[in-house]
Amino acid sequence: MLRLNDRLEAICSCVPAGGVVADIGSDHGFLPVALYERGISAAVIVSDAKTGPLDRARENISRLAPGAAFDFRLGDGLEVLGRGEADTVIIAGMGGLLIQRLISADLDKALSVRRFVLQPRNAPDALRRWLCGNGFRLVDERLAREGRFICEIMAAVPAGARIGASRGPEGGGADAGPEGGGSHAAGDGGWPAGGGAGAAGDGCRLAGGGADAGPEGGGSDAAGDGGWPAGGGSGAAGDGGRPAGSGADAGRAADPRYRQIEAALSECGLEFEISPLLLYKGDPLALPFILKKIRIEEKIAQELMDAGAKAGPRLEELSARLEALKKAARLAGG
Ligand SMILES: C[S@@+](CC[C@H](N)C(=O)[O-])C[C@H]1O[C@@H](n2cnc3c(N)ncnc32)[C@H](O)[C@@H]1O
Repeated sequence: MLRLNDRLEAICSCVPAGGVVADIGSDHGFLPVALYERGISAAVIVSDAKTGPLDRARENISRLAPGAAFDFRLGDGLEVLGRGEADTVIIAGMGGLLIQRLISADLDKALSVRRFVLQPRNAPDALRRWLCGNGFRLVDERLAREGRFICEIMAAVPAGARIGASRGPEGGGADAGPEGGGSHAAGDGGWPAGGGAGAAGDGCRLAGGGADAGPEGGGSDAAGDGGWPAGGGSGAAGDGGRPAGSGADAGRAADPRYRQIEAALSECGLEFEISPLLLYKGDPLALPFILKKIRIEEKIAQELMDAGAKAGPRLEELSARLEALKKAARLAGG
């Protein structure tokens, strides 16, 4: 069995079992191998914009998972996919703005994807903001160490349930977002009836609070039963946009602690930079992640102070940001 590093492991754990997965910018092809070996997906579209990386993926996959019959496609971003063809799309190891460009290139197609698992190398806040402003909700977040970096992994689903728009084998008709936080395990051969996504009223919130809906549950393998959790609303909830999501998500949405975290981060202007989901779940890397940000800002502040009086306004800005980050660190238990 292929051993993944923590970053790839975290990405893999965000992919629900039982659907068609597209790995965009696959390069080494290790994610498709792991998805196959673990019974998460036997139907992976392996894609890259360049022939070299795509050939590398093909070679690694044929060596490490000779039984896998994957589809290899050369091309730019989502252009290699048909509308509604992939249940989960992984875009990992690229810049946040590039990921944004790839998703926005065909928004209609992107909104036909049931779940994106994204790992931006930079500009994660810009990507979150863009996603939330363009019809997606963030339903899960994870952190993983890779060398000296702490990588951010996010799962996003279309925010508005478009009745009849999905085409998974899940039955239940009015499916919307299958954002169960659980991950891989069972391989029950199909997408369960997902907890609906509901139409996020404010279009700009992380899942769990406010108008959100999704039942995405907490930490990895939250569902425990592998794959998407059953049940949940249709997305066409008559309660003003919140589907009857069952399980951990509904609980979180109603949990004052989650709302408190969300409000506190938002007050500090950090809601797109530090996901409330991480603090709510008690991700063990959340505090180191914030402390690292603090160290960087303190270093810059020191350099500005050394530079003298001209740095005044910038320094004020920086100290406000440092205060905000320290507040976030306290929220993370620091
Ligand atoms: C740093 S590698 C990441 C590999 C793997 N996804 C991971 O996370 O380890 C980035 C890959 O994305 C590919 N890539 C860059 N731009 C792309 C695009 N517009 N469409 C598809 N693939 C792209 C590159 O060729 C490269 O193989």
